Amino acid sequence: MEKTLTIIKPDATAAGNAGNIIAHLQKEGFKILGMRQLQLSEAQAKAFYEVHKERPFYGELVEFMTSGEVVPIALERENAVAYLREVMGATNSQEADEGTLRNLYGTDVQCNAVHGSDSQENAAIEIAFFFPRCDLL
Ligand code: RTP
Ligand code: MG
Repeated sequence: MEKTLTIIKPDATAAGNAGNIIAHLQKEGFKILGMRQLQLSEAQAKAFYEVHKERPFYGELVEFMTSGEVVPIALERENAVAYLREVMGATNSQEADEGTLRNLYGTDVQCNAVHGSDSQENAAIEIAFFFPRCDLL
């Protein structure tokens, strides 16, 4: 079965929406393989979003991702990577389809409630980033 990684971002945890997002993912058929709650260090956030280091929004993104608690969750489902991206909606919460997580719980292009891996290859890298000790279900 395919795996992917989501992160409930600091805007959504601060607003008390982590539970709603977890329930939403379970209703969509995702199985939770592992879940943590932590505040990212600057070094962790920089490393996680390293692919974006040349983008103009990198500094703000790192600041945002370290601003509060995050909840990384390793998920399993058929077609998990692509299906999670569908359930999340567009990067800009204002443009996300009705009923998607970003439509329901996001605010704008940065504070968009959730992260989702963008390929199976990156899903494996990102799951190992947060769950390095093989303690997944
Ligand atoms: P993610 O990686 O978090 O799942 O989001 P994504 O694939 O939909 O979007 P991506 O292009 O990978 O951007 C990563 C995160 O950076 C923030 N962002 N800010 N200010 C801006 O223009 C801007 N653009 C992107 C968002 O938090 C986005 O999710
Ligand atoms: Mg991305």
